[in-house]
Amino acid sequence: MAQKILVTGGTGYIGSHTVVELQQAGYETVIIDNLSNSNVGVLDGIEKITGKRPVFVEGDCTDIDILRRLFSEYPGIDGIINFAASKAVGESVKEPLLYYRNNLCTLLNLLELMPEFGVRGIVFSSSCTVYGEPDRNPIDESAPIKNATSPYGNTKQISEEIITDFINSGAPVKSVILRYFNPIGAHPSALIGELPNGIPNNLVPYLTQTAAGIRKELTVFGDDYDTPDGSCIRDYIDVVDLAKAHVMAMRRMLSSSEDTDRIEIFNLGTGHGLSVLELISAFESATGVRVPYRIGARREGDIEKIWADPAKANNILGWTASVPVTETMRNAWAWQLRTDSKSNS
Ligand code: WQD
Repeated sequence: MAQKILVTGGTGYIGSHTVVELQQAGYETVIIDNLSNSNVGVLDGIEKITGKRPVFVEGDCTDIDILRRLFSEYPGIDGIINFAASKAVGESVKEPLLYYRNNLCTLLNLLELMPEFGVRGIVFSSSCTVYGEPDRNPIDESAPIKNATSPYGNTKQISEEIITDFINSGAPVKSVILRYFNPIGAHPSALIGELPNGIPNNLVPYLTQTAAGIRKELTVFGDDYDTPDGSCIRDYIDVVDLAKAHVMAMRRMLSSSEDTDRIEIFNLGTGHGLSVLELISAFESATGVRVPYRIGARREGDIEKIWADPAKANNILGWTASVPVTETMRNAWAWQLRTDSKSNS
């Protein structure tokens, strides 16, 4: 009997790619999403890729009654992957209560209902933002957690503490916490990808929209950092690689062998840092498309450089990022062209 996984925020960017990988690994999937930052058409893309349409419930995870009804209507959910959260750093500074309510109430509701419905484990979508500006790179899971630089980052830190305290209280559940570095790209089918609302905050969607002529030029936020070319360095991880890590985390967490800890934390990155300027040239060489850009002022709150030491995920989870950045850039570009053609149709 296939194990059944609830994916909250499953029509979102990383959620939809993870549903594809879960289905292709033989899991049954149930999605709940309030469509606040995604659209229901994503289900068509998932179905076209896998041949299976996931069960979809439109609903807000901050409403515990909606979640309780879902668990009753779809019994036998073995595990949860929790993507449902607000995630824009800048917006979180302007709307902190929205972020604390949405991100923390969602998690509290899920944890409260898990023992009631026999759900054995939760994979939590965390972020390298919990590390702040690292003292050294590459950064592993033993690195100190620094004071959050935004309410968004703080919700990730508090969420990790909530999960830890709940499990240490003796709750009959397990958890794997995944600290993502910078997810980028799109599914190679170009049937699903990132759908930023309005002006993208993140580098790659802004870059591809500039290459497509939707934006006049890309602003590189500063080239006076202490890095080889002066622009900030990040660990950019292909979204399909990232999705695959969730399947491996779920398999390990639900495995019958009791040798896994009740809480495990993994950094998910490639282990290589790339600067903003290097990513621009990777896109241009991969696609042959020029990206008009100018050097602008630094962005408030940006970290200078951070990249992962992924050894723990490689050795314990058995997961390694494998998609080359040029292929990721080609997939991002193919997705941009497809969404352009759809929006112009
Ligand atoms: C990357 C680099 C910018 C846009 C944030 C969150 C993280 C995760 C991903 C949710 C930086 C530069 C960007 C632009 C630029 N959030 N940049 N021009 O800030 O590393 O991470 O988003 O999952 O938790 O912290 O990602 O893509 O915004 O920026 O020069 O128009 O690109 O300065 O150096 P970031 P990003």
